[in-house]
Amino acid sequence: MLWHTNLLLLAATAQAHYKFSKLVINGVPEAKEWTAVRQTKSYQSNQGVDNVSSPDMRCFQRQPGTATARVATGEKLGFAASAEVNHIGPVSFYMAKVPEGANINTWEPAGKVFFKVGAIDAVGAPKLTSTAATWPAYTKKIVDFTVPKALPNGKYIVRVESIALHQASYKGGAQIYLACGQVEVTGGGNGKPSPLVAFPGAYNADDPGLSWSYYPVRTSYTAPGPPVWHG
Ligand SMILES: *[C@@H]1O[C@H](CO)[C@@H](O)[C@H](O)[C@H]1NC(C)=O
Repeated sequence: MLWHTNLLLLAATAQAHYKFSKLVINGVPEAKEWTAVRQTKSYQSNQGVDNVSSPDMRCFQRQPGTATARVATGEKLGFAASAEVNHIGPVSFYMAKVPEGANINTWEPAGKVFFKVGAIDAVGAPKLTSTAATWPAYTKKIVDFTVPKALPNGKYIVRVESIALHQASYKGGAQIYLACGQVEVTGGGNGKPSPLVAFPGAYNADDPGLSWSYYPVRTSYTAPGPPVWHG
């Protein structure tokens, strides 16, 4: 029966989406959603952003922040997904330093303020049949990176971004799942994070890293955006 099939499809679609609603420090997620993560417009729908020129690419923000987590350099910082990351594609992490004297809850990270600080990229040549081996973020519920020792102390916005490529065989088909958290970094160094990029601005809808091909299947993949700053 047709209605039955449609219901199953709807269920599958709903499960396929996710949001990053909790910060995770050293593997331990926050107790409640939207604590040190600014609530996103996807808080109910779990949708991604598909227009990389939209201001939603910055933080997809619905509400200002309410709390700031503490993390030391050398520790693991990341986000928990409301469901697992169940689309093929890379996960990247960006940070932006909150200026001295600014209110971290309301500071808008506009302009060239973000540097890439972590990435869970494709391993080797992507193959359609080995999603877990090729895309290490696939099926993960927690994605994280190590805060570089050279990162200066201070307050930062930390932005997670999961690029879902499963429908990216047409332009604008990539779905970007993202959120911004708020952290105070301690134990830091004297590094100068670079290069700095803006969201929107860092990506273009024509970037090869925002497209995918099943046939012929892509044999190499590089995520869009700047290289990772390792400190
Ligand atoms: C994408 O966002 C930009 C900036 O808001 C807007 O000018 C453009 O019309 C949008 N494109 C689409 C296809 O919605």
